[in-house]
Amino acid sequence: MSDHNQVKITSMDFNKERPKTENPLKIQDLTFRDGHQSLFATRGRTEDMIPIAEMMDRIGFWALETWGGATFDTMHRFLNEDPWKRIRTLKRYIKKTRFSMLLRGQNLVGYRNYADDIAKAFVERAAHNGIDIFRTFDALNDYRNFETVVPVIKECGKHFQGCICYSLTEKFMGGEVYNLEYYVKKAKQLEAMEANSICIKDMAGLMAPYDGYTLVKALKEAVSVPIHLHSHFTSGMSSMTHLKAIEAGVDIVGTCMSPYGFRSSHPALGPLVMTLMGTNRDTGFDIKQIAAINKILEKDIIPKYRYLLDDTKVSIIDTNVLVHQIPGGMLSNLVNQLREMDALDKLDEIYAELPKVRKDLGQLPLVTPMSQIVATQTINNVLFDDGKKRYKMITAQTRDLCYGLYGKTPVPINPEVRKKALKDYKRGEKPITCRPAEVLEPELDKAKEDVKGLSVDLEDVLIYALYPVTGKRFLKWKYGKEEPPNKVRPRTMEDVKAEQELIAKARAGKLVEKKEKTAPAKGENLRTFNVFVDDEFFEVGVEETGGSPMVSYIRQAQSQIPVQQPVAVAPLAHVVPAAPQAPALPPSQATSDSPEVPVKSTITAPKKTENNAGGTQLKAPMPGIIVSYKKQVGDSVNSGETVVILEAMKMENALPAPAGGIIKSINFANGDSVARNDVLCIIG
Ligand code: CO
Repeated sequence: MSDHNQVKITSMDFNKERPKTENPLKIQDLTFRDGHQSLFATRGRTEDMIPIAEMMDRIGFWALETWGGATFDTMHRFLNEDPWKRIRTLKRYIKKTRFSMLLRGQNLVGYRNYADDIAKAFVERAAHNGIDIFRTFDALNDYRNFETVVPVIKECGKHFQGCICYSLTEKFMGGEVYNLEYYVKKAKQLEAMEANSICIKDMAGLMAPYDGYTLVKALKEAVSVPIHLHSHFTSGMSSMTHLKAIEAGVDIVGTCMSPYGFRSSHPALGPLVMTLMGTNRDTGFDIKQIAAINKILEKDIIPKYRYLLDDTKVSIIDTNVLVHQIPGGMLSNLVNQLREMDALDKLDEIYAELPKVRKDLGQLPLVTPMSQIVATQTINNVLFDDGKKRYKMITAQTRDLCYGLYGKTPVPINPEVRKKALKDYKRGEKPITCRPAEVLEPELDKAKEDVKGLSVDLEDVLIYALYPVTGKRFLKWKYGKEEPPNKVRPRTMEDVKAEQELIAKARAGKLVEKKEKTAPAKGENLRTFNVFVDDEFFEVGVEETGGSPMVSYIRQAQSQIPVQQPVAVAPLAHVVPAAPQAPALPPSQATSDSPEVPVKSTITAPKKTENNAGGTQLKAPMPGIIVSYKKQVGDSVNSGETVVILEAMKMENALPAPAGGIIKSINFANGDSVARNDVLCIIG
């Protein structure tokens, strides 16, 4: 390690004296990208960055991360914001500090490898709009996936930061795959590709402080370019890991402004600035300016996003990461998926199966999209394989991985699993060994053609090329061809205030303002009705009191739902007993009388009939979306042949026919959402 970076206390009394240091620790701020991506589902809006933009420019950051990762996806999909415009807008306020983006190698800002023509155009446009530093990573650490984007970054005169995704197979760094030699080798590969800096990307917060020390020290000795540490707080270790990395001579670390810090995000800036004050790595940042920015965020910005924070937990650390080394996001996805499938009791089996699947698939780094591929395949192996037959249901993405479409895995894939996965695979049964994008056809011209009349420049075309469905919808909003729905509008402070008042009222027990009125005694003409609301049912007593019939009482039934006799109930004055299968009464028949007890006007929906006369049902093994039916009514099908492709957890699952025969009925259409156990088709 160069002595230059060693931490020394330079001022004995740093209350009085703060000497300028020769080699301050450099800081990249992550508030505008990873911060809100980690804590607030990437929903941060440009208008909420502007109030602090100029102040952020004055702090002295090495760079501000403003773009990339999931921002491109969420902006056009959920926020009705043009992603390209964000860079240009922020550039108007931030004139000194460089902008950094997270680029997923050949995946760009999407979830698959794009063709080279798209990759080149995308990087060129990002540089042109104002991105200065391209933090580039590949989920497999296969740097062949950098070969197309790096020359474009260089041609545009921009900074290429190469990432090494940090992963573990044991509790600490080491073992057969992710040991010190692995990381040193990767760093040397990046230096050979002329990386301007190298980032260790600890996306799951797995890096323990002493491993951080050992790793940074080794990298500083092995390569000459600056070393950057990007470590998430998830497990609670990263503040300590940062400090040990600083002691080992790290050049740059990533932090967030405090309201965007901690949990699955990053350590906050302020504590680090204080820690290093009076040392030779003093950042030189003004703690008062930092506090002033935090105050604006707390008061005017964060309240709008607070609802997105997972407040079901008091603890801000994820102990599971410490115990299982499973990234936080991956684990919560897994648990949600199991809950939806009513299989939470299988969690221990999942924990046991996951490392096996990961090993079979080549000890993948557990980063998007590899973490989803491993998670879904693990669920499939545990839930759908009878007895010991694992890999009975293999997702399309696992097949792609086995084919080599994502790149080279850290260790070879289990040949038996690979053979199973590539049986009848659409691209062929022999895996490729070349750079994945070499087998991809150019995509740009077709994309241009597809959105002719809906795009004015290459940036519009790229939105569509990366996200065909939501991208096209966004272009329609942008050019006024379609009205954007209300839900893409921003939340205002007024919305937040109204909501807070409502919560305060509820807490004080004042939410339901009902008039104090005593109910009249039940008369002899009282008739009772069963009213069904989803899984609950209410018994409603109705009695004529001179005028129209009135609802006289409602109580929630405790017992089991009886055999359903559909009863249509109009709100209040028009309660009529209805014959089974009666059409719904429109809610407009409600009177202005305010109800004694709020009653939802509801009609029990006729139950979806399952036409299974004389056939075998293919049921949805999990909730999801029908991607496509591979068979039509009347087609013959062999047992085990794929009938439906079902998407769950962003992975496609081919559902096999449970029996051979003729497809007698198909109960859904492509694009339909289905619940677990819905009958997708009948084979007879
Ligand atoms: Co990150």
